[in-house]
This record gives sequence, C-alpha cells and structure tokens, in this order.
Amino acid sequence: MDHNHIPPTVRRTYGTDDLAKAASFAGGFINFGDWQGIDLTAPTPEDRVHSQEQLYRRVLRAFPEPRVQLRLAEVGCGRGLGAALALREFRFAAVTGVDIHPDQIERARAVNARALATYPDRLAFTLGSAAQLPFSDGYLDGVFSVEAAQHFRELTGFARECARVLRPGGRLVVTTFFSAPGPEVAERLKILLASFADGLDVAHPLGDFTADLTRSGFTDVTAESIGTDVWPGLDRYLTDAVPAAHWSRNFLPAWRSGLLDYHLVTATRT
Ligand SMILES: C[S@@+](CC[C@H](N)C(=O)[O-])C[C@H]1O[C@@H](n2cnc3c(N)ncnc32)[C@H](O)[C@@H]1O
Repeated sequence: MDHNHIPPTVRRTYGTDDLAKAASFAGGFINFGDWQGIDLTAPTPEDRVHSQEQLYRRVLRAFPEPRVQLRLAEVGCGRGLGAALALREFRFAAVTGVDIHPDQIERARAVNARALATYPDRLAFTLGSAAQLPFSDGYLDGVFSVEAAQHFRELTGFARECARVLRPGGRLVVTTFFSAPGPEVAERLKILLASFADGLDVAHPLGDFTADLTRSGFTDVTAESIGTDVWPGLDRYLTDAVPAAHWSRNFLPAWRSGLLDYHLVTATRT
C-alpha cells in the first residue's frame, strides 16, 4: 500500500482549490472553530480567526505541564498557523507540522518564514502521511491533530503510527468530527454533506477510533463532545458567509439529528 497516496478530492481541495481561501474560513486556518465566549450576534472574520485559534488552544491545553520540555508533532498541519501558535503561546520545546499535501507544506513554510527563521531548531514543516509518520520509534512526547482525521482513509493505521512514534507516557490529542455508529450513518451523511459524498471526508465512528487507540497501546483514552462549542457558532458564521442553500449549512442539522459530533480525544501511550 502507498501510504503517501493523496485521494483525488484531498489533492484538489488543498491544491488548486486552496480551501483556506473559502468564505467559511479566515486567516489561513482551516477548522470549524471553538466559539465559546464569542458574541454570535454579528460574527466578523476576526471572530472567525479567534474561533480557530481557540480550537487549537483547547487541544494544546490537554498537554500536561511542564510543556517546555515536550517535543510535539501536528498531523495535518495545513498552513502551519496552529503549529506556530503552539510554539509561541505554549512554549513547547519543538513542534513539527506534518501534512500529506506538498502545496500545504510549501504554504506553511512561506506563511511562517519569520517564525522558522527565529526558531530554526524548534519549528519545522515536513511532508508526511498519517499512515506513515516521518519520525523514528518513541521520538515524540506528544502528537496532536486538528480537523484532519476526517480526511484519513482509515484510523487504525493512524492510531498504530501514533503509538509507534510516541515514547511511553507520551500524549495524543485529536480533535475533529466523528460519526455515530450504525450501518446507515455514512450513507445519510453522503446525502446531507457534499464532502462525504465526494470522498473528501470519511465517516469514522468515534467508538472505532477509541477502540483502535486502546488496541494500539494507549491508556486513559477519553472522548469529550465539544459540539455545542462548534456547530451553532460555525452555522451562525456561515449564515452570512455562504448562500443559504450551501451544503455546509447541513452540518448543524446533521449534528442535531445525531449523525456526527465534534470530539476532543485524548490518550496516553503506555
Ligand atoms: C481541514 S485542514 C486542517 C488544517 C489545520 N489543522 C487547521 O486547523 O488549520 C486538513 C489538513 O489535513 C491534511 N491531510 C489530509 N489527509 C492527510 C493525511 N492522510 N496525512 C496527513 N495530512 C493529511 C490536508 O492536506 C489539510 O492540510
């Protein structure tokens, strides 16, 4: 199997289409955001950026203090703004952003040129796949991933790779949307959401991923639903940013009808 194969819709979305430029996002981040505490009366692009930064902060707070000694990797780093935030605000020893798309790695290096020059030994961006992480066994103290795992074709190999590259006691923090269990859920998501229909997103049941983690050598596996902080805020922003009939407005009803939810998953390498 070619672990570095990029599915066609992933290649297009983060290549020529450059999703970061879509009206649903802002500031170079590409995630749905944590809207906690943000006034939803008339959210601005600055609020949108803030929501995306807040999602990163929520993930990064899940790494234990003292953080200054921790060597981390982010899987699916996009333009690398979250990896740079991790270094700047949380003062980790080092952060390497990994992405499967060469255009994203190129953008991450360009966007963060100053930070890369300032911290040449502490910030890096490298091409790599969730199915084959570019690190030796036990090299990392932590791995995180923000709204990327829904693109991975399968999560069993990702769980195994995270277990391989983490040292004993190392921590994994993953946030994105996972599907509910059940045979018809994936089909219903394809009807509601174009990203599932065209193969950009894959329906991964949450319970399958947490079971994969346990089987791969993780303990203290937790999954917190954070949907109330994500979906209503995102949908309020989309109300002004995209046409009313745009398929992305269906995330909110999909969540309300229990087909998917946004989760924060944490686990510790045994
Ligand atoms: C929605 S973007 C999120 C980017 C960033 N985490 C953020 O929040 O701004 C998902 C990213 O995951 C990357 N990606 C997709 N499949 C991947 C895989 N199998 N391995 C590594 N990265 C992948 C994409 O190229 C894209 O840059």
